[in-house]
Amino acid sequence: MSDKVILNYNGSELDLPVSTGSMDEKAIDISKLRSATGLITMDPGYKNTGSCESKITFLDGEEGKLMYRGYPIEQLAEKSSFVEVMYLLIKGNLPTQAELDKFVNDINEYNYVSEDLIKILDAFPSSAHPMGVLTSLTAALSAFNPKCVDVSSEEEMYRAAVTLLGKFPVLASWTQRKVKGLPVNYSNDKLSYVENLYQLLFKKPGQELDLDPVIIDALDKLLILHADHEQNCSASTVRLVGSSHAGLFASISAGISALWGPLHGGANQAVLEMLEDIKNDGGDVEKYLAKAKDKNDPFRLMGFGHRVYKNFDPRAKIIKVAADNVLEKLGINDPTLEIAKKLEKAALEDEYFKSRNLYPNVDFYSGIIYKALDIPTEMFTVMFAVGRLPGWIAQWMEMRQNNEPIGRPRQLYTGAPLRDYVDIEKR
Ligand code: SDX
Repeated sequence: MSDKVILNYNGSELDLPVSTGSMDEKAIDISKLRSATGLITMDPGYKNTGSCESKITFLDGEEGKLMYRGYPIEQLAEKSSFVEVMYLLIKGNLPTQAELDKFVNDINEYNYVSEDLIKILDAFPSSAHPMGVLTSLTAALSAFNPKCVDVSSEEEMYRAAVTLLGKFPVLASWTQRKVKGLPVNYSNDKLSYVENLYQLLFKKPGQELDLDPVIIDALDKLLILHADHEQNCSASTVRLVGSSHAGLFASISAGISALWGPLHGGANQAVLEMLEDIKNDGGDVEKYLAKAKDKNDPFRLMGFGHRVYKNFDPRAKIIKVAADNVLEKLGINDPTLEIAKKLEKAALEDEYFKSRNLYPNVDFYSGIIYKALDIPTEMFTVMFAVGRLPGWIAQWMEMRQNNEPIGRPRQLYTGAPLRDYVDIEKR
C-alpha cells in the first residue's frame, strides 16, 4: 500500500504523504498543498476531512463499531460505570480502585455551585429551553472559577476538568427544576455520580427519594453510550473554540450550543415529538415514511441516518434492548415504543432508506427511556450533554496537550470582484 499520493497539477507533480492510523485508517497530509501549489481543498461539512489525530475514540462507520480508548462500547456498557468511563476518556486507561476513588473525591470536592448562579437561573423565563439555560450557566462558571480559565499545566487542566464534572450535573438539574417550578437541589457526596444526578433532578423537599437500581442502571448505561463520539459537530466545536485558548467552560458552553441543534443532539427530543405526532395521527408510519422521502417536504425521519455510520449505530442496538428491559421492569406500556419499532421495521425494509444506508442512530430510542424515567422531553438533550461532557473534556485536553494551532479554515471566494466605492447620490 503506497505511503503517498502524487498530485499532478499544471504540469508539476507534488508528493503528498499518506498517514496510517492505529486501526489502519489512511489520511492524505495536505499541510504543504497551498504553499506548493496555491490550491486549497473544499469539503462542505468536512465529510472527507480529518481535523486532528486523536487517541480517544474510534468509529468504524461501515461495520457499525465504536470503542473508547480501545475498549468496545458493548463491553463498557455491560461492565463499566459512567464515572469509570469518564476516567478512561480523560486519563486514557481504566483506573485502579485507588485511582477511581481519588477521581471521585476530586469531583466531589467541586460539586458545590455558587448561590449567585441561582440569581442568573432565576432571570430566565420558565419557558426558556433548558439547553439555552445550560449553555449560559456553563459559560457563567468562568466568572466564578477564574483559576479554571487560563490553564496550561496538566494539573490546572485536570482541576478545571473535575471542577466542571462536579458542577455540571447540578447545573443540568437546575434547568429541569426551573422547567418544573421546583426549588433547586444540591449534591450529596454519599451517593454515586449517577445516583446524585438522579436525586438532583427529582428529589422533592421533605421527600425520601427511592433510588430504584433499574432506573439508576439504565441512566448509567445511557450516559456511557453518550460519553464520546470522536469529531462530531459539538466535539469539533469544543476543539475549535478551545484552539484559541479560550477556557474549558467557554469551550464546553459552545459545544452545548452545537449539540442543541435538531440535526445533532437535539434529535432525541425531536424523535419523541415525531413519535407522539405519529401516535396522535393514528399511528400511520407509512404516511411519515412518505413525508421523509418527499424532497418537497422538509420532514426528516428524526433518529435515523448518520454522517459516519452507514450500518446500525451500535449504541442504538444497546439502547433498544435497554428500553425494552426498563419499560418491562417498570411495568410501563408505552405505545411510542411500539410505534418506534414499527417505524424502524418499515424504514429498514424501504428502498429509499436502504439505498442511503439510513439506520436508527443513538437518538432513536434514548428518548423512550428518558420518558420512562419521567424526564421531560425538552430535557432530553440536556441529558445527552451530561453524558457527552467527559468526551468534550477529553477532546479539549487532547487538543491543548498536543499544542494544536488555532483552527482557521480557508474558503473559496465567489463574491463580487474588486470594485470602487460609489457615493450614495450616484447609486
Ligand atoms: C447525532 O456525528 C456524530 O457522531 C453525531 C452523534 C454523536 O454521538 O455525537 O452520533 C449524535 O447527532 C446523531 C444524529 C442525530 N440526528 C438525527 O437523527 C436527525 C436526522 N438525521 C439526518 O438529519 C441526517 O441523517 C444526519 C444529519 C444525521 C446526517 O446527515 P448527512 O451525513 O449530512 O447526510 P445527508 O444529509 O447528506 O443525507 C444523505 C441522503 C440525502 O438524500 P439524497 O440527497 O441522497 O437524496 O440521505 C437523506 C438525505 O436527504 N437522509 C434522510 C435522513 N437522513 C439523511 N432522509 C430522511 N430522513 C433522514 N433522517
